[in-house]
Amino acid sequence: MDGIIYLDHAATTPVRPEVRREMMIYMSDYFGNASSLYTLGQMSKKAIDPAREKVARLIGASPEEVYFTSGGSESDNWAIKGTFFAKQDKGRHLITSAIEHHAVLDTCEQLRKMGGGLTVLPVDSNGMVDPDDVKNAIRPDTILISVMHANNEIGTIQPIAEIGKIAKEAGVAFHVDAVQTVGHYPVDVDAMNCDLLSLSGHKLYGPKGVGAMYMRKGTRVLSLIHGGGQERKRRAGTENVPGIVGLGKAAELAMAELEKAIERESALRNDLLKKLETAIPDSHLNGHPTQRLSNNLNISFAGVEGEAILLRLDREGICASTGSACTTGSLEPSHVLMAIGLKHEQTHGSVRFTFGRSNVAAHVDFVAKVMEKTVNRLREMSPTYVPGEF
Ligand SMILES: Cc1ncc(COP(=O)(O)O)c(C=O)c1O
Repeated sequence: MDGIIYLDHAATTPVRPEVRREMMIYMSDYFGNASSLYTLGQMSKKAIDPAREKVARLIGASPEEVYFTSGGSESDNWAIKGTFFAKQDKGRHLITSAIEHHAVLDTCEQLRKMGGGLTVLPVDSNGMVDPDDVKNAIRPDTILISVMHANNEIGTIQPIAEIGKIAKEAGVAFHVDAVQTVGHYPVDVDAMNCDLLSLSGHKLYGPKGVGAMYMRKGTRVLSLIHGGGQERKRRAGTENVPGIVGLGKAAELAMAELEKAIERESALRNDLLKKLETAIPDSHLNGHPTQRLSNNLNISFAGVEGEAILLRLDREGICASTGSACTTGSLEPSHVLMAIGLKHEQTHGSVRFTFGRSNVAAHVDFVAKVMEKTVNRLREMSPTYVPGEF
C-alpha cells in the first residue's frame, strides 16, 4: 500500500487490522464447522450470533431479522427473487429505478423475462427518484419496490423514508440496496420503512464474500439456497465463520466511528471538488450537490476519456474509477450517467473519487495537481474538446 493513494472506497475497502485479527482466529485455531456438536465446532457457532447482533445494531434491526449471505449481490438477488417466488398469489409486478446496481436491475430483468411485470422509474438530473413516480407506478399486482439508498457511481441519496411510507401504505414490500451506505451513512430500517435491506462486508472495511440481508419479521420471502439448516433454515451452506466474524467487527467499528468519518471524508471530498473546479474549466459534478454520500465525488471533464485519465493517475499511484464500465472490449456507457441525462460522450469523461480512512489532506493537494496536469495534457491532444461545452 505504501505510496498508493487509494480513492476507490466505493469499489472496495481494505480489511481493517482489527477485523483481520478477529478473523484469523477462525481461520486457524477455531476452524470447526459451526454445525458440529463437539466443542471445536461450538466455538465457531458461538461466534456467529454476536456478529449478527453487531450488524443488527448498525442498521437498527433485531438480530433475528439479519441473515448472513455471500455479499451484496446475493442479498439483492434473494430479496427480489425470494419475494417474486413467494408472492405469486398476489402478483408479479416489480418497481425499481434506472440507476440501481446491476445486481438489482439484472435480477428484475431476469424475472421480467420469466413472465413478471417491471417498471423502471426514471431519475432527475441529480439522480433522484421522485416518490410520486413510485406512487403512480403501483398497481394491484405490485409485489415489490426496490430502490437503492445511495448510488454507487454518483453517490446520490434517495428519499428512502418517503418511498418506504408509500410502499407501506400500499401494502407492497420495500427492498433497499444499502450496500453503499451501511457503515458510511446512518441506516435505520424502521425510519426507512423498509422490509428488506442488502449490505456487504467489503464496503465497510470487512472481508469480501460476506454480506447480510435484513428481513423484517413477517415478510414473505422464499429461500434461494436449499440444503442444510443454517441461518435458521433460510439460507443453506456451511457458515463463512471468519467472514461473519469480520463483518461483525467491521460493523461494530463503523458504528463507533460513523459521525467522525462522515465529517472527515466530506471535508476532504469538498476540498478536492473545490480545487478541481477552480483549476479545470469545463468540469461538471455528477449527482446531487448536497444529498450525496459524504465520501463520493463524481466529476466529468469535457473532451477527455475517463479511462485515459485513470491510466495516468495509476502511473502516479492514484487509484480511482470511471463512471463507465468497460465490458468485454466494448465501451458501454454508464447506465447511471445516461439516466441522469449526460450525453454519450460526456459519460466517457467522468472520474469517480471515493474517500476513506487512509486519505489525508496531502492526498487532495497531490491529486488536484495531477488531475490539472492530466486533463490539460489530454485536452491538448483531444479532437473533441470544445471549450465552454459544459
Ligand atoms: C450498490 C451496490 N449494490 C450491490 C453491490 C454488490 O455487492 P457485492 O460486491 O458484495 O456482491 C455493490 C458493489 O459494488 C454496490 O455498490
